[in-house]
Amino acid sequence: MHKILSKEKLAPKIYRFTVEAPPIASSRKPGQFVVLREFEEGERLPFTIVDSDPEAGTIDLIIQAAGYSTQRLCALDAGDTILDILGPLGKQTDIENYGTVACVGGGVGTAVIYPIVKAMKEAGNYVITLNGARSEDFVILEEELEEVSDELIVTTDDGSYGIEGFGSTVLQKMLEEGREIDFVVAIGPVLMMRAVAEVTRPFDVGTIASLNALMVDGTGMCGGCRVTVGDEVKFACVDGPEFDAHLVDFEEQVAKLGYYHEEEDECRMHKLPHELEQEKA
Ligand code: FES
Repeated sequence: MHKILSKEKLAPKIYRFTVEAPPIASSRKPGQFVVLREFEEGERLPFTIVDSDPEAGTIDLIIQAAGYSTQRLCALDAGDTILDILGPLGKQTDIENYGTVACVGGGVGTAVIYPIVKAMKEAGNYVITLNGARSEDFVILEEELEEVSDELIVTTDDGSYGIEGFGSTVLQKMLEEGREIDFVVAIGPVLMMRAVAEVTRPFDVGTIASLNALMVDGTGMCGGCRVTVGDEVKFACVDGPEFDAHLVDFEEQVAKLGYYHEEEDECRMHKLPHELEQEKA
């Protein structure tokens, strides 16, 4: 059992949880994730570890109430418990001193990119962070990212805050203007990561994308996170979650986006009345 020590609302339907998990807190590395199960029959859900405090024995997770299971999780509060948390899993991000690194985070992917920005900065890189969100209300971790980045650029799709548009477009402009960028990390929606890969390809800038949003069990057993990278079939949960974005078959990933809608609808039909109430709130 893992106790939730605190819960903070970051944006509509997006929460930051601090959870007790001492062994994970002391051994996790940037880019790694955990798989948690809220209750015995619950779905196994992967989440990247955003931060940790080895002394306090806690890890921070940012969870967006998107499907049935994440809505249940987001209804939990400080003092509640999570049945089990497995991790740290996956390979850690290749942190090196590349020179100038651009980290492009989109939506809740910004939570995933935060520990990478921090580690890239600590490794001596000049870090430009592009924090993209749908609108002002959905901009998360702005202060935290500002602290660990050399430059922080916020973009919103509707222009309600920061620069109007996408991180990929801002990055393209920078590269076209001759800005020297040695390495790019893109984490967010599949379509956004595909766009970043296409922007950096002609400039031959090494780019990685994190595909952990596509996992189901996170242990290499279900095959749900299969991804074609170059000519090879890989599993994001054990071989990733990060891969060379120029080799990832993003079309295959885009085709997978609608896979689980039927199961989600089925789950919603079995909701308890208080759960439906919480969802409306
Ligand atoms: S998530 Fe199931 S095999 Fe990777």
